[in-house]
Amino acid sequence: MHIRFTPVRLAIAAAVLAIGSQAQAQNAPIKVGLMLPATGTFANLGTMIENGFKMYVAEQGGKLGGNEVQYFKVDDESDPAKAADNVNKLIKRDQVDVLVGTVHSGVALAMAKAAKESNTLLIVPNAGADVVTGPMCGKNIFRSSFSNWQPAYAMGKVAAERGHKKVMTITWNYAAGNESVKGFVEGFEAAGGKVSQQLNLPFPQVEFQALLTQIASQKPDAVYAFFAGGGAVKFVKDYAAAGLMKSAPLYGPGFLTDGTLEAQGEAAQGMYTTLHYADNLNTPRDNAFRLAFAKAYKVNADVYAVQGYDAAQMLAAGLKAAGGDIKNRDKLVAGMEAAEIDSPRGKFKLSAAHNPVQDIYLRQVKGNVNEVKGVAVKALADPAKGCKM
Ligand code: BEZ
Repeated sequence: MHIRFTPVRLAIAAAVLAIGSQAQAQNAPIKVGLMLPATGTFANLGTMIENGFKMYVAEQGGKLGGNEVQYFKVDDESDPAKAADNVNKLIKRDQVDVLVGTVHSGVALAMAKAAKESNTLLIVPNAGADVVTGPMCGKNIFRSSFSNWQPAYAMGKVAAERGHKKVMTITWNYAAGNESVKGFVEGFEAAGGKVSQQLNLPFPQVEFQALLTQIASQKPDAVYAFFAGGGAVKFVKDYAAAGLMKSAPLYGPGFLTDGTLEAQGEAAQGMYTTLHYADNLNTPRDNAFRLAFAKAYKVNADVYAVQGYDAAQMLAAGLKAAGGDIKNRDKLVAGMEAAEIDSPRGKFKLSAAHNPVQDIYLRQVKGNVNEVKGVAVKALADPAKGCKM
């Protein structure tokens, strides 16, 4: 039998093919590459981020922008030395559409570099490395969390307002710790304080005794510390056990007491920290989120869960603007840039450098809760020094 390809028939066949391939593109699962720590001092933070992300997807019926979601996972071990290999497993081997990661700033730097080189979409759901939304910023790079400068700068201001004049700092010697201290010094010294000495130890070491002895001998008014996860639990307990809490109150960004309070127990009581989230915001949005999270995962939500949840919300906003087509990068990016994210922390938009512009809360530990005491700095935007889009 001969089929005659008249111009009309050809036009119809082309249209059918076009509709078919469009539908296929829209229905192809979105490949999400989760690069998070599953082992080491930040393992629990990685789990909370993953659970937050997946909870938002589950709330949308398991889809984003009308597409099924397929996950690819790599344990980055919070090890910068393995980061380039790890991220390339997701980009080259698994050919993911979007990278979501990570917790550790040093690892995030390698992810941002690989994302830039391959033009892969990246959403950072924790790591605060200032340069990611500074000199390394790009159309394909977004953050749902914070820059290291944001909570640190706010705490510098709070420490000065609380009357402290001479403060020491202590942290792990890596990007996040050093940038956090820098942000604190900026806020504290601009408000009239003086940082007398900066102490550090290699990441992820937790042998704090020698440094605590130095703090005791220097007798500062207060101490600012950046630690998180398992390291934060040990540091706060050691600090309290050294008898320093009364003579030199301990301050920090909220990572010092977020997701750690059950383990820190009595040691953390009364501590003030600054962060873009608190446990008792008591808004309908946050209450609903916390209830759903507790039901789904049998643990209370923390800042990491919120950041994972919001990373998924940001992606959903982009996909909505792109009609569900992850390959329509221009529309996807424009949608993410324009979105107002209805976060459990409070609504936020992104800065021109793609970092949240957000309220930084002052919180105080009471029992197992980081209680909100007020807003330390309203709608704080990272300065994004060196970002050229
Ligand atoms: C970071 O490396 O950027 C980081 C890690 C844990 C908590 C906060 C920041």
